[in-house]
Amino acid sequence: MAAFLDLSDAGGNAIAAMLDDAIARKSARSGHPKGQVDSDAPLAGHVLAMVFEKSSTRTRASFDVAMRQLGGSALVLDSGTSQLGRGESVADTARVLSRMVDAIMMRTDDHAKIEEMARHASVPVINGLTDRSHPCQIVADLLTMIEKGKALPGLEVAWFGDGNNVLHSILEAAALMKFNVRVATPAGYEPEAEFVGMARDAGCEVTLMQDAAAAASAADVIVTDTWVSMGQADSETKLAAMQPYCVDAELMKRAKSDAIFLHCLPAHVGDEVTEEVFEGVQSVVFDEAENRIHAQKSILLWCFGKLA
Ligand code: CP
Ligand code: NVA
Repeated sequence: MAAFLDLSDAGGNAIAAMLDDAIARKSARSGHPKGQVDSDAPLAGHVLAMVFEKSSTRTRASFDVAMRQLGGSALVLDSGTSQLGRGESVADTARVLSRMVDAIMMRTDDHAKIEEMARHASVPVINGLTDRSHPCQIVADLLTMIEKGKALPGLEVAWFGDGNNVLHSILEAAALMKFNVRVATPAGYEPEAEFVGMARDAGCEVTLMQDAAAAASAADVIVTDTWVSMGQADSETKLAAMQPYCVDAELMKRAKSDAIFLHCLPAHVGDEVTEEVFEGVQSVVFDEAENRIHAQKSILLWCFGKLA
C-alpha cells in the first residue's frame, strides 16, 4: 500500500503501467453502463473516503465512479459538514478514517496538510489537488495525449497563463516521462523553481518565456488553466497581466496542425481560452475529463499494489 501525493511517489515505470492499465480497462468496458463493475472487481469490498476542503465536480464524480467500477464504494466528507471544518486535527481525522475506510483521497489548500494526513493514516492517501500540485489530473492528461496518438518522450507541451498547481504536476510528469515543456506566463507568475529544476535535472527542456506566440510554435500539446485558482485572489493586476496568454485561434495556428488543446476544467471561456478554441476540433477537453475516471482507477489500483 502506498500514498500518491505526487507523481514521483509512483515514478515513471509505475505511471507507464497505470497508463497501460487505464487504456486496457477503458477498452474492456466500452459500451457498458458507467456504474457496471469491471469483470475482475479488483477492489471489491473496499471503501474510499473523499475529503474535500475545496469544491470539486470532476474529482469527486470520477473517484466515486472509479470505485464503483472497481467493485468498491466511496463516501464524501467536506469541510462544511465534517468536524475537520470545525477544527478537528488532520492527524485525528487520519487515524479515525483509517479505522473506517481502505483509502483516503483529500483535496485541500496547503500541501503540508495532505502530507500530515499521509503521515498519520495507515491506509493509502491520494492527493486530489493542493495549492502545490494536482497529480491525478495529469495522469488523465497523459492518458488523453496517448489516446490522441502522442508518444510522450520528446513531446513538446506548451503551457499558457498562470504558473500553478496543474503546471507543477505537468513539469513533474515531464521529468518522469521525458517530454519538454515551454511555459508562457507573465513575469512574476512563473512556476516554482523546484518543479522546473526537477524536469531539467531529468534532461527535459523547460523554457520559461513571456512570448506566448513563441511558446506555441510547433507545439504538440497546448494547455492552459484558470488564471485564478481556488483560494487565490483575482486582482485586477493579475487579470490584466494574463490577457496576452489567452489561447486563441492565432496561437493554435502556430502549433503543429495535429496539436491538441487540453484544459483540466472548469474553464473560463473568454479568459484563458476563446470559445472558438474551446469548442474547436483540436479541443479534447471532454475526453480529458472522462479520462479522470480511467486514470483514478489505475491510481487506486497502484496504491493497493494491484497494478499488473
Ligand atoms: N479538474 C478538476 O480537478 O476538476 P474539479 O475541480 O471539478 O474536481
Ligand atoms: N488550478 C485550478 C485547478 C482546478 C481543477 C485550481 O487549483 O483551482
